[in-house]
Amino acid sequence: MLSLVIHNHTEVRKEKLNQIMGANEPLLDEAKAGEACYADSLGWLDTEEWADNQTLARLETLAKEIRENADAFVLIGVGGSNNAARSVIEALRKEDAPEIIYAGNTLSPDAMRRMLKKIEGKSIYLDCIAKNFETLEPGASFRVLRQYMEKTYGEEAGKRMIATGTAGSSFEQLCTKCGYTFLEFPFNVGGRYTAMTNVGLLPMAVAGIDIRELVEGAKDMQKRVRAQEADENIAYQYACLRNLYYKEGYRVEMLASFEPQFRYFYKWWIQLFAESEGKDNKGIFPVAGEFSEELHSVGQFIQDGSPILFETFLDVAQKNASLVIEPDTKEDDFDYLNGKDFWDINKAAYHATVAAHSKKLPCMTLEVDALDAYHFGQLFYFFQFACYLSCKMMGVHAFDQPGVEAYKKQMFKALGKERIGANVCVNIAQGLRIK
Ligand code: PA5
Repeated sequence: MLSLVIHNHTEVRKEKLNQIMGANEPLLDEAKAGEACYADSLGWLDTEEWADNQTLARLETLAKEIRENADAFVLIGVGGSNNAARSVIEALRKEDAPEIIYAGNTLSPDAMRRMLKKIEGKSIYLDCIAKNFETLEPGASFRVLRQYMEKTYGEEAGKRMIATGTAGSSFEQLCTKCGYTFLEFPFNVGGRYTAMTNVGLLPMAVAGIDIRELVEGAKDMQKRVRAQEADENIAYQYACLRNLYYKEGYRVEMLASFEPQFRYFYKWWIQLFAESEGKDNKGIFPVAGEFSEELHSVGQFIQDGSPILFETFLDVAQKNASLVIEPDTKEDDFDYLNGKDFWDINKAAYHATVAAHSKKLPCMTLEVDALDAYHFGQLFYFFQFACYLSCKMMGVHAFDQPGVEAYKKQMFKALGKERIGANVCVNIAQGLRIK
């Protein structure tokens, strides 16, 4: 279960929210049905389309083979090609699973060398995930890692490499030629919406995560938000609240939690909203708050700085761990904690933060029952659907990313992609240097 709590809902806001909810109802109906104009991007709307029983069985078999033979599994991918998997793996990875190493998300030679050091002497399998095999970061890393694999495993190398790419692409051809395992990157799902496809599910399964539970969570959320009417529809309410706060002038949304296990989930959520909504000079800038740590840094700005942000807390209801503080004979002024459980102390910090922050800025909480695969599945579908709705309300295309393409074009120009072997032109962005 996922529920939404609005903390400081004034009468004026209630009135305005009702107006927004009333006015946008046709958009909810369109999103539920899936619009023909987005047919090439809505493959995620029905979870079963790319996560049916047969697909899950194939992924489980492949993951089992990798788990039995690998010390480490290298996930090569950037943005939508690694964020979903990483968010669940870093939260729920099983102790007995191979180490998961990330590559293809940096061009730093130092970081690449560290990554290569990590794989040395280990039994390695890898999955290179790229919808468009032109993307520089994964493409360049794949070349380096492929050479490492060929040097290390000789003829066996191909069996240890998986490529997740578009059917019929040059990537698939490379795969067939070299004997790598090929998995289809859905043609009708953009990177940031691929959690419930081969892209997200294989690496998660390798890390020992129950991908059937995850898919079940997504399917249950899908049933819920595509059936419910506007006034009880949680995704629609969240999208309308964002729209209300945007209209009030709040331009930043902070997703905050007191559970460090959400660290990489924030990254996935940030990409989803920033890349989907931030266009045509519109959009809410998504940021993350890792509490309680960051209450001692950005907490100052939230409470007291420019009133630009609203806060969405991510809270977990069911107790998943316990650590009780024992009394101590030494006087350290912390006796008020004697016998208290960190679970309750952490919850007290959450309630105190909501009480303090909601005096200054709009705050809401999304509460999940538990921090497990099923609820990650619920969260993925919930946010994807809400993001689609939010973009429709904002009047922007939820599934393209023209801004990212602009950077890519400049990179290709700088690296002389069209003129193989040309020198790197590192300073295309001229500026005034102040010494
Ligand atoms: O969501 C998106 O579409 C993007 O963030 C892509 O996932 C990202 O740019 C990586 O693209 P590709 O898989 O083509 O390398």
